[in-house]
Amino acid sequence: MRLTYCMRKHLSKINLLSQIRAQGNLYGFVDEQARHENSKKTVVVEYSSPNIAKPFHMGHLRSTILGHFLSNLYERHGWNVVRLNYLGDWGTQFGLLAMAFKKYGDEKKLEEDPLQHLFEIYVSVNKDVSQDPHKINDEAVETFRKMEEGDSELLAVWERLKDISLNEYEKVYKRLGIEFTEHHSESMYTKAGLAVIEDLKQQGLLRIDKHGRGYVEIQRKGRAVDVVVLKSNGTTLYITRELGALIDRIKRYNFDKIHYVVENGQNLHFEHLHGIMSIMPEFKDRLNEDLHVKFGRIHGMSTRAGNVVFLKDILDEGRNIMMKTLKDKRTTKVTEEEHPEIAEELCRSAMFAQDMGQKRVKSYPFSWERVLNFSQDSGPYLNYCHSRLCGIERNNPWTVQEDVAIDHLLTMKSAEQLCEHLEQYNEAVSKSLTHLEPYVIVKYLYTLCHLVNAAYKKCNVSTAEEQEAQAYLQMFNASRLVLANGMTLLGLRPLEKM
Ligand code: ARG
Repeated sequence: MRLTYCMRKHLSKINLLSQIRAQGNLYGFVDEQARHENSKKTVVVEYSSPNIAKPFHMGHLRSTILGHFLSNLYERHGWNVVRLNYLGDWGTQFGLLAMAFKKYGDEKKLEEDPLQHLFEIYVSVNKDVSQDPHKINDEAVETFRKMEEGDSELLAVWERLKDISLNEYEKVYKRLGIEFTEHHSESMYTKAGLAVIEDLKQQGLLRIDKHGRGYVEIQRKGRAVDVVVLKSNGTTLYITRELGALIDRIKRYNFDKIHYVVENGQNLHFEHLHGIMSIMPEFKDRLNEDLHVKFGRIHGMSTRAGNVVFLKDILDEGRNIMMKTLKDKRTTKVTEEEHPEIAEELCRSAMFAQDMGQKRVKSYPFSWERVLNFSQDSGPYLNYCHSRLCGIERNNPWTVQEDVAIDHLLTMKSAEQLCEHLEQYNEAVSKSLTHLEPYVIVKYLYTLCHLVNAAYKKCNVSTAEEQEAQAYLQMFNASRLVLANGMTLLGLRPLEKM
């Protein structure tokens, strides 16, 4: 600790600021050599992974935001990143939905508003379930069995559900600025799952319980526990397909690490996955311990009118409110035509920053007040600070004079503190990677903005002498670069004006 402190003191401001300028988005990340080493490594980050024909719920949103961030984080460290979306499209619940679609599906409604109609179907069939759980459940199990056997009529219905859902997801991903390099889905892995079961059997690891289900015994927290991996009617379970998918990923990518960005609630499932892989000699120490990147829930995310809605509605509402704010604010610097685009970005940054602003395992209540706040620590606040820094550069056309001594001009407290904070960016980055936590970056950026504001009051570029102005400009330029660096890492698009 002491050593880093001493070293930090030795980096002159002129060196620090020019390093930031030269490295841009890579400033704060490991050096060229380490990046080169990392480029031989591959990490698979699985995130988002919604279920077709069901609402994209907030757990999926968190997974999407966090997974996108983690992928960026590894990428800037030089790793090869497989950004993987693993679609939930298989299992008894899809038997249920295929059944429901046949019963309640209406072509006309489907055309008008596909997602809304799928949701209605989903609600209707769940009503049926609550009225007669056993009967409906048996029917769903039977329907799913037929699907696993390849019933073409059912599979056609299911394909349809899948297309509609994917189409809608694409729109949401586009709005959120999220991309994947790979799309897989559970349905790809029935055969592979069954092959793993066969393997387990060959190795004498599979047992059959008194209900005819296949299970394996694994160690969990020093105790033996049984995990069912095959249903009595021979159909696969979530965990069966998971095993098939994981082994496929090992073969496809030969990864060094894998992360599943999935909510806390599935903790046990991933412990089972890890446990089962550990009893298979071939895969015994193959996996990293921190494979499950878990997170808490967002409570009470609804429109302001209080309805539970689709993510799309939340984004629309957020954008509309931001539009109004832009219109009403006297300080708004963008033209009215630009409002929708800027408002969309502000809404997105608000949601992302709220989501990544605390430890990921923490559940938090969604708050429109916090999201929509411009002045307190928030996404729009980061954007506000960024556009203000852009303003300084816009209003003071300048060129950096590399060899001008500036250290003695940046000695007032606010400038010292700001420069020191800029120098600490790599510590935030490395802590964030160690703990797989974006909040470290979010907090770092809020502090950066506070320090920029404080320095802004003391270091007035337009009234300063030429040499001082040059020093201040360099400092604010570096601040802008680090802020943009952190914001893009989080998946935000830094605005130049707002
Ligand atoms: N589709 C699942 C769900 O919504 C999440 C999948 C998580 N990923 C995985 N490999 N199991 O619950």
